Amino acid sequence: MKKWVADKLICPQCLDAEIALNLTVREADAEDVLDGEMTCPQCGSIYPIQQGIAVLLPEKTRIILNDHRGYNAPGMLSAYLWSHFGDLLKDPDATQAYQVWSAGFTPTAGDALDVGCAVGRLSFDLAATHDHVIGLDTSIAFIRKAREILTRKEISFDLIVEGHITEPRTHRFNESHDFSRVDFIVADALALPFRTRAFATTAAINLLEKVPDPLKHLTEINRVLRDRSAMFLFSDPFSWDETVSPPERWLSGNGNAQYSARGIDTMRRIFAGEFGVFDPPLGIADDGNVAWKIRKTENLWEHITSQYLVGRRE
Ligand SMILES: C[S@@+](CC[C@H](N)C(=O)[O-])C[C@H]1O[C@@H](n2cnc3c(N)ncnc32)[C@H](O)[C@@H]1O
Repeated sequence: MKKWVADKLICPQCLDAEIALNLTVREADAEDVLDGEMTCPQCGSIYPIQQGIAVLLPEKTRIILNDHRGYNAPGMLSAYLWSHFGDLLKDPDATQAYQVWSAGFTPTAGDALDVGCAVGRLSFDLAATHDHVIGLDTSIAFIRKAREILTRKEISFDLIVEGHITEPRTHRFNESHDFSRVDFIVADALALPFRTRAFATTAAINLLEKVPDPLKHLTEINRVLRDRSAMFLFSDPFSWDETVSPPERWLSGNGNAQYSARGIDTMRRIFAGEFGVFDPPLGIADDGNVAWKIRKTENLWEHITSQYLVGRRE
């Protein structure tokens, strides 16, 4: 964990009280705390830092660390590394998705937060225009890889072709890239370990449908987003899944007359201040569809249309 991150963190169990954490360092280098822990002086919770990875999960989410399926499964690394960095790897099948999503980033005085960052592509893109960028995800496998990319300035992995047949893929970032202002932590979108109004920019790409409580996730985005000069980049395919969130919590497609028939229309209303989530509301500066692909094997692809809104507070 980069040393500058420590001052920005609060206890995810005591969010209302915004309790700063006490840092104990056991091993460090010039930039990073490699081994140590952070302790909450109010509730006593301990948040470990091991091999440079800080885990800021509230107690009820920590079980995910021991789950080697889902986003921690080995095949997911190949799939997401290709999806995030396929264009940099000059793969002819790569999409331009991240270039579309990051087109609205402009030089901004302040920090950015990439919620559900996976292996980190959008966080690296945000670094070009923000003071500091923090990417967070509940998948420790993704965060470990994102931190490896940032420390080595190199993307290197085995792309799955078929079964255990793989091909090496490598991309080296130019030395002039400054990654010292980017970091990645394990944390939960439903309990963001940051102070109220801490970020100029927040992004949540393809995350809404992946959390058990979508409205709570948006309420957390509102809490940490500045009330002026702020931007929220939102994108989602609205492919709700009963194994992730109960249908009564979906923001469309569940017959709830409160919501619009389509998720993107409910989101426009939520941005405008309906349902008491965004206060102050967000004006919509841009919207559209992004074509995105996940490559699982040479012959297995997921084609996704992700609908995005760029919300701004002046
Ligand atoms: C569909 S992927 C999208 C990842 C990335 N934003 C992108 O566009 O490629 C969803 C990501 O959200 C993460 N995730 C799921 N639930 C989460 C939560 N409660 N808090 C933080 N991240 C979560 C997953 O581990 C996964 O990396």
